Amino acid sequence: MLGYSVYSEAGGVAKTTTAANCAVAHARHGHRVLVVDLDPQNASLSYLFDVDDERADGEADNLVRHLIGRPKGELLDLVRETEEGIDVLPTHNMHERLTELLLKTAEIEEQTHGDPDYEFPKHAQLLEVLRKSGVNERYDVLVVDPPANGEQAQNNALYATRNVVIPVELSGKGQQSIAGLEEVVDGLERHLGMNMGVLSLVPFKYEGTNDQNHYLDELEETGFDIPIVIGKRTSLMEGCWREQCSAFEYVEEHRSRQRDHEMRTLEQYDRLARHIEATGGLASEAPEAAESDGLETNA
Ligand SMILES: Nc1ncnc2c1ncn2[C@@H]1O[C@H](COP(=O)(O)OP(=O)(O)OP(=O)(O)O)[C@@H](O)[C@H]1O
Ligand SMILES: [Mg+2]
Repeated sequence: MLGYSVYSEAGGVAKTTTAANCAVAHARHGHRVLVVDLDPQNASLSYLFDVDDERADGEADNLVRHLIGRPKGELLDLVRETEEGIDVLPTHNMHERLTELLLKTAEIEEQTHGDPDYEFPKHAQLLEVLRKSGVNERYDVLVVDPPANGEQAQNNALYATRNVVIPVELSGKGQQSIAGLEEVVDGLERHLGMNMGVLSLVPFKYEGTNDQNHYLDELEETGFDIPIVIGKRTSLMEGCWREQCSAFEYVEEHRSRQRDHEMRTLEQYDRLARHIEATGGLASEAPEAAESDGLETNA
């Protein structure tokens, strides 16, 4: 199984959009896909795929209960099938308290453990519960959508997947320093004690300005893969949130006519997903769309 987290420390930079559309593209390539949604906010991937109806039910079993060792049922019973061919392990309001609850669990586990040097592996709980329920055998691709903040959600996501896809906003505050980006990856590796695979950077909101082109050149110099650059697609993305679906479904089911730039965006998500699959050694069953230059966005 290939796993990756769509990761950024910045908020509102298309993490959920990227996770959702890549996941659907993987499924369209014939892969069995599970998306784990760790973000408790309303504009979540669970909302996008309309599987967040139990999020406010305090009695309901949910992933957090499993992560703190107090499950009410089987983990796989929480998994929801969606109409777009992907499975989602939905979020729950309890995710807001994940860090606090994991710290408390760690304290109890460490106090009651025989060895005074024992350290409860807080960041390894997601990996542990997914492994225990056989997710590795059941799925070809695991995509995790962590929140922009929430230390334990991020650590667990990264530790479970060991790979990241990093969306990068090509505008205003989104233009984080390139050195900062490399530092973030190094810092995560040190913190979690493992190597992190950066499967792709995904610049988005490209409009062809000089500033953006300059920034793209700098991004390319990092040596990280940048298989596509997504244009500014406000109307398409807003439509997805409104109709609660992926960009693929939105264009196919909710647009009365095809728009070339939107078709190109779909091709790009398709290509990004293929690139990620190839890096992870997954063969794709579906025929490839016509190849076009990754930087050609015609925004
Ligand atoms: N290519 C694009 N062009 C224009 N807007 C976009 C594009 N991709 C995503 N967006 C919009 O940007 C906003 C943020 O996207 P999204 O919710 O996916 O980000 P996020 O990183 O998951 O945010 P958060 O940190 O809140 O979880 C949304 O309104 C989304 O529709
Ligand atoms: Mg999000």
